Formats: sequence, C-alpha cells, structure tokens
Amino acid sequence: MLAETVDYLEKQGVEKPEIALILGSGLGGMVEEFTDSQAIPYKDIPNFPESTVVGHEGKLVFGKLAGRSVVALQGRFHYYEGYDLQTVTYPVRVFKELGVKKIIITNAAGGINPDFNVGDLMIITDHINLAGANPLIGPNIDDHGPRFVDMSEAYSKRAYELLKSIGQEEGIALQEGVYTWFSGPTYETPAEIRFARTIGGDACGMSTVPETIVAKHCGMEVAGITCITNKAAGMQASLNHEEVVVATQDANEKFRRLVKSLVAKF
Ligand code: 6GU
Repeated sequence: MLAETVDYLEKQGVEKPEIALILGSGLGGMVEEFTDSQAIPYKDIPNFPESTVVGHEGKLVFGKLAGRSVVALQGRFHYYEGYDLQTVTYPVRVFKELGVKKIIITNAAGGINPDFNVGDLMIITDHINLAGANPLIGPNIDDHGPRFVDMSEAYSKRAYELLKSIGQEEGIALQEGVYTWFSGPTYETPAEIRFARTIGGDACGMSTVPETIVAKHCGMEVAGITCITNKAAGMQASLNHEEVVVATQDANEKFRRLVKSLVAKF
C-alpha cells in the first residue's frame, strides 16, 4: 500500500522533501507561502484516506518554503472521524518513505493553562495521551522503527530552542506547554479539564499525539505548535467549532511567520 502511494506521489513530482508539515484546523492557509507548489487532492492519491470535517481541507501540497523542499497536509485525519489510528497516521508513514526526517505538527486546541489567551501560539514541549489508544498497537512495522519507542524527547529540544529564538527575533510572543489528547468529538467536561490541568496539561485537543508517536517510531525529529482557539470547558461559557476557526484566522499572520522561519532553520 505504502509503495503504491509513494510511487504515485513521486510520479507527480514530489521529490525528496526535507520537512513535512501537518496543518491543523484553520491553519491550512500556510501553503499560500509555498512557491513552485503543487496540490494533490487526497481523493486522487492511491490508498489515502479522505477527510470529512468542514474547515479541514483535504490536499497534499508540496513545494518550496524558505528555500527548503517541503510537503504538507492541508487537513488531517482524526480518530473521532472513525478512522483507526493506522489510517490517521498513514500520511506520516508516507512521509517517512519519501525520505522526510523532520516534521512540524500543528493544531488548534483549547487552553487549559489560565495564563493562555485566545490566539496565543504555544510550543508543544510534551504531550499526555488521554485517548486510551495508540497507533503503534498491532504488529510492529520493523522497516520503520522498533517495537518499543523512546518518548523521552517526543518534541525536539533543538526545535524548541529554534522557536524561542525566532519568537524573540520576530517579536512573536510564544507560550509553551503540554498538549493533552482527548479523542473527541465531544469537547471535554469541566471536570475532565480540571483533571487534565492537575496532571500537567496546558492545552487540550483531538489530534497531533498519534502523528507524533508514529513520527517518533519512524525516527523523525518533531516540532509541535498549537494555536489556542478558546479557553477549555469550565473556563468560558460554552464551546463551538466556529470560534475555533475564527481564532485561527486571527492568529494566521504570526503563525505563518513562525512556521516559515522554523522551516528555514529546522
Ligand atoms: Cl476545548 N478541546 C478539544 N479537545 N479540542 C479543542 C478544543 C477543546 N478547542 C479547540 N480544539
């Protein structure tokens, strides 16, 4: 399956991308910064899943960004859509087969840390898997990595240092913290958010952790960036998807500058 997908993409001109990007809800506009770019709808890619959520585009885009060759998912696959986690993380394995060694994984998430505001960008320093599922359950893909994967540095310290210095140079305020993964599609209850805060969570979302796990399995260096789109349950009156999309649009300009600079230096 992977060979067929990779073969198709290479025939479309995707050639040895250095860096992969997964663009979260509302953050797909990043691809407008690419030059020499080509977009391939997921439905045209053999063995690729298709995304189902409004506001999550479904295209693989490759091209140049800040002088580096990149490949991006504009729209990702979520566990809550009903895909199993092997399917959710299939694109990461495709990236591995294309030769990608570094990946920037982004998302929109709720803020758990009371110091966070809507529109803040957060460097993901670590994660907590609260979904009770793991994409590596099942036979190990020995060609990609080991049975037992070290997660001591899931999110690259080098990428963290790069992001901190870019934030200073470019005047982009950055939060940092721990991303907690809930399966969704419900938002959390206030009690779940108090629990997540108590165990060290700063943000909560419905993605990223499966892709990070598979990227680490594949030996990739991972950078994670969250856009805080709302305060989590119990911290504001109620939650809805529309405000998530609006907040990502407001944060878009600084998000694009940050990611572009990271790509230049990663
Ligand atoms: Cl509050 N929770 C989760 N799980 N995902 C989100 C969110 C909250 N806000 C945006 N995405």
